[in-house]
Amino acid sequence: MQSPARRTALVTLLSATLAACSTGGAGDETYRPLVGQGGKDVMWVPTLDTLLLPMLELAAVTADDIVYDLGSGDGKIPIWAARRFGARAVGIEYDAQLSALAQRNAVRAGVTDRVKMVHGDIFKEDFSSATVLTLYLGEALNEKIRPTILAMRPGTRVVSNSFGMGTWEPDRTVRLPEQNPLFLWIVPARVAGDWTLEGLPEGGRATLRLEQRHQVVSGTLSDAERRVRPVEGRLDGARLALDLGAGTAGGAGLPRRLLLEVRDDVLRGAPASDAARTVSGRRARP
Ligand SMILES: C[S@@+](CC[C@H](N)C(=O)[O-])C[C@H]1O[C@@H](n2cnc3c(N)ncnc32)[C@H](O)[C@@H]1O
Repeated sequence: MQSPARRTALVTLLSATLAACSTGGAGDETYRPLVGQGGKDVMWVPTLDTLLLPMLELAAVTADDIVYDLGSGDGKIPIWAARRFGARAVGIEYDAQLSALAQRNAVRAGVTDRVKMVHGDIFKEDFSSATVLTLYLGEALNEKIRPTILAMRPGTRVVSNSFGMGTWEPDRTVRLPEQNPLFLWIVPARVAGDWTLEGLPEGGRATLRLEQRHQVVSGTLSDAERRVRPVEGRLDGARLALDLGAGTAGGAGLPRRLLLEVRDDVLRGAPASDAARTVSGRRARP
């Protein structure tokens, strides 16, 4: 016979376990996955519950977001994104049993109006509508999926548990005590190439020639009199901050910093020191 105290302790433990299940973090009576079991390109290891909130907060998830977890395991990240932030969320998981478990977890968590679990391959499924991506895949797989991510809408936020993305440096890294790091990237706009700029203080048209390495930009700005200044900049999604160097011709009167917004083939913004002035640009035809 159990003592009343032991019975109460067991009931408390059971309730806590069920509460944990209801957030989608465990197996069920139908299927119980094993941590470390094989997956198509990477094994299943669930993100720690203590990292779920930090990951989603690092991505600044809101109810307006569409969150995709690539390789979603038991579905805990999409379920949390919906429950805690009211976001719409999709999990893509290759393993049929894990995907079915994730779907049952979504039902138990009462989030099926906002969460979809897709049984599929992250290299075949379309996740281009995501505003936030979450990854727990390993560095090699992150690098393999990187070209697809870099082609996504500028401003898409990408959070990875533990693993980097090769030469694409993170925009932010969060290190919680005794935890693996979390990384954030913001998909940068594509700006490499030549642009014709108008509206700079010295008047006339200038040619902006940019090279780009992910969110890091460098190049030259040449004015109508062929005076050339070096430029260096950084992209935060579609926002481009460009610092103008002095160059050989001095560039007297030119602003030191331009704050521009990139939309496809158009740039628009102002000098940081003169927000009332409009600087605009178009991609130069090759
Ligand atoms: C490390 S687990 C992460 C699970 C979940 N994202 C989390 O953070 O709890 C990686 C998951 O990716 C799945 N996976 C591996 N290769 C995949 C692929 N090509 N397409 C979809 N899922 C894949 C595995 O089955 C596994 O569930």
